[in-house]
Amino acid sequence: MTSAASAGAGPGVAERVVRWQATHGRHQLPWQNTRDPYRVWLSEIMLQQTQVSAVLEYFPRFLQRFPDVAALAVAQQDDVLALWSGLGYYSRARNLHKCAQRVMTLHGGRFPGTALELQMLPGIGRSTAAAIASFCYGERAAILDGNVKRVLTRVLGFDADLSMAASERRLWDQATSLLPHEDLDLAMPRYTQGLMDLGATVCLARHPSCLLCPLQDICVGYRSGHPQRFPVKTKKLKRSAESWWLLWARDAEGRVWLERRPDAGVWAGLFCLPVFSSREALAATHPASDSAAAEDHAPFLHVLTHKDLHLHPVAVLWPNGMAPSANGQWVESARWPDVGLPAPVRKLLEASALED
Ligand code: ADE
Repeated sequence: MTSAASAGAGPGVAERVVRWQATHGRHQLPWQNTRDPYRVWLSEIMLQQTQVSAVLEYFPRFLQRFPDVAALAVAQQDDVLALWSGLGYYSRARNLHKCAQRVMTLHGGRFPGTALELQMLPGIGRSTAAAIASFCYGERAAILDGNVKRVLTRVLGFDADLSMAASERRLWDQATSLLPHEDLDLAMPRYTQGLMDLGATVCLARHPSCLLCPLQDICVGYRSGHPQRFPVKTKKLKRSAESWWLLWARDAEGRVWLERRPDAGVWAGLFCLPVFSSREALAATHPASDSAAAEDHAPFLHVLTHKDLHLHPVAVLWPNGMAPSANGQWVESARWPDVGLPAPVRKLLEASALED
């Protein structure tokens, strides 16, 4: 019996993936065809938990504003957050900025040349470090993001529970043992990209296209008839829900009152409408919100990874010359694109600006 795990006749996993990538993989993404670690790093951070289609929009804009690591390191954090606005997971943007500063101060402006050193930098985990090192330096380092876990557990028939740290460690070891051994400078970028491409286009979570897969005839998951059963993960993410009331104060000139969110928690560091945990709490601090000048908008749902946020905007035309809170500022619509706003707040403000 031939399987990915047993060394049978014919090409192994690495050779198959490398060959398949050359003919069927993606080659024209804007962060490909370069070995510049700045570009590769930026793209890998943007692509964490984020669709390629979204990154296609943000990546060139970010590069235009911050063409190299030196430019990013001297930027204001607010400007970095503003360019990230809408991509989500804002700790990525804060770490990106910190990482650029470390590369300047600790490494003289050059990204370190090994996955182990890259992994010491803020926001760069083991898989991201390996992706950068394999793409840029041809290093023999294994990636293991969500998509790749799916591909490898299926091929190997790896049925240990990945919510256990020990199982995850074993899968890392297996992923490492499958890496190419020859011609690494060419094979490693191809292999890494090939695994990503297989995970994103063929080995899909619910409907894998096994007939198109170069690993089909060595895939234990395929042979079992139920590839979808891999990976095995028993502990489910605990989700919660919260309701937030948003004070949407506008002055006579159409400016909006924005406060900076605390440094930890949801939308940390972004600018936002003042948030309250109940309609009463909002009204208690802002009596104007109970007047005829106030309008309760229809609530809407914003889904975060761990949380459903039910957002209730309360629009209030604010009396002239008064500040709605101690720490905030009036921001005119022309500046909204330049401040880091959470995506649902940006949509809310922009939709209403179009109506006006
Ligand atoms: N997801 C993570 N890294 C990626 C890459 N380099 N190309 C496409 N999708 C990815």
